[in-house]
Amino acid sequence: MSAQWSKHLSQGIIAAWLLVGAEGMARAEDPAVLAERAGIPRPAVIAHRGASFDAPESTRASYVLARELGADYLEMDLQRTRDGVLIVMHDDTLQRTTDVARKFPERKDKPISDFTLAELKTLDAGSWFNQAYPARARDSYGKLHILTLDQVIDIAEANPAHRPGLYIETKVPQQFPGIERDLKHVLKARGWLQGEHKVVLQTFDKDSLVLLNKEMPHVPKVLLLWVGAGSIEPQSSVAFADSGEPDKAAWYARQQPRDRAEFERWLDIAKAGGAVATGPSAALTHGGEQSYMDLVQPWMNQLSHDKGLLVHVYTVDDPVDFQKVSDAGVDGIFTNRTAELLKFYGRPARSSIEQILVREGF
Ligand code: G3P
Ligand code: CA
Repeated sequence: MSAQWSKHLSQGIIAAWLLVGAEGMARAEDPAVLAERAGIPRPAVIAHRGASFDAPESTRASYVLARELGADYLEMDLQRTRDGVLIVMHDDTLQRTTDVARKFPERKDKPISDFTLAELKTLDAGSWFNQAYPARARDSYGKLHILTLDQVIDIAEANPAHRPGLYIETKVPQQFPGIERDLKHVLKARGWLQGEHKVVLQTFDKDSLVLLNKEMPHVPKVLLLWVGAGSIEPQSSVAFADSGEPDKAAWYARQQPRDRAEFERWLDIAKAGGAVATGPSAALTHGGEQSYMDLVQPWMNQLSHDKGLLVHVYTVDDPVDFQKVSDAGVDGIFTNRTAELLKFYGRPARSSIEQILVREGF
C-alpha cells in the first residue's frame, strides 16, 4: 500500500469513528470475553424458580435441588410483603401456587403487598404441585412455604462445595417503590455485593433497570425482552383474543418486533440502563405455556453481541430447544429442568434428582 493510500485509509477510519462513535465501530465483541468481564459463567445454567420441573417453584425444595444439581444461578422473582420483607414469588397474586383461598378467602385475589410475612408463612406453597403433577408429587412438598430472600440466600450458601449465584428479578416493580434499594440493603448485609459472590439483577421494566443500576452499578444487570405493552413494539397490534388463533403459543410465535430498528432500540435501552445482557423469550418447538415470541433469532443475538450484550434466553426445557437456541448463539438459558440442561452442556450432575431429594430430606 502506498503512503498516500495509507494516509487516506487512516483518515477514513478516523472520520468513520467520529461519525458513528466507538460503539458503532465495534464489531462482534467475543461473547466469551463479555462473559469473563461481567463475571458470568458461559454458558450459564439459570435454574428458573429453582429446579421447578421437579419440585414446587420458588420453594426450599426447588432451590436446594437446583443447588445440589449444580446450577450456576438460582433464579427468583422478588416482591415485598405489607410489613416490608422481601420475599420470592412469581405471580402477583397467591391463588395458583398456595392455599390462600382456604386460609384467607376474602383476600384470595389481593396482591402480595396486602399480606404480612406472618400471614404468607401460614400458606401451603407445595400441595398445588402434587395435584398438578401427580407423577412428581412427594408428601414433603405439602409442607413447603413461601421463602424470604434471606432464606434463599441461606440455601445458596449452605453447600461450601457449590455456592450458586443469585439471579434476581424485580417483579411488578411499580407496585413496590424502592424495592431496588431494599434489595441492595439485603445483599449488602449478607455480604453478597463483594468478593466472589455471583449476583445478576434482571427486570422487564426499563425504569427498574435504571434504579438497579443507580443502587448497584457494579452488579451485572439484564433487561428482559418481550414484544408488547411496555416493551418492544409489535408488528401487528391484533390481540390474541381478536386473532381467531386457538393456540396461544402459535399466536406468540408470530409476534415480531415492529422492525429491526425497534429491536435495536431496546438493545440500546438495555445498554443505556447499564445492562450487560438481555433476557429474550423463545418460541418452543412443542409450544406450551412457556412458548413466546422468537427473540433469539441469529441476527438478534449477533446484533446483541455487536453491542457488547450477552443473551440469556427464557424459559427452555427441551433438548431440541437447548440445541436450537444454542445454535442461534445464546450465552445462557433459563430452565425449569436444571438436570437436563447440565447434561446438554456436558456437565451432568453427580447424583440423580431422586437421590438428592431423599438426601436433602424431601
Ligand atoms: O426472569 C425471566 C424469566 O423468569 C421469565 O419470566 O415470567 O418466568 O419471570 P417469568
Ligand atoms: Ca423471573
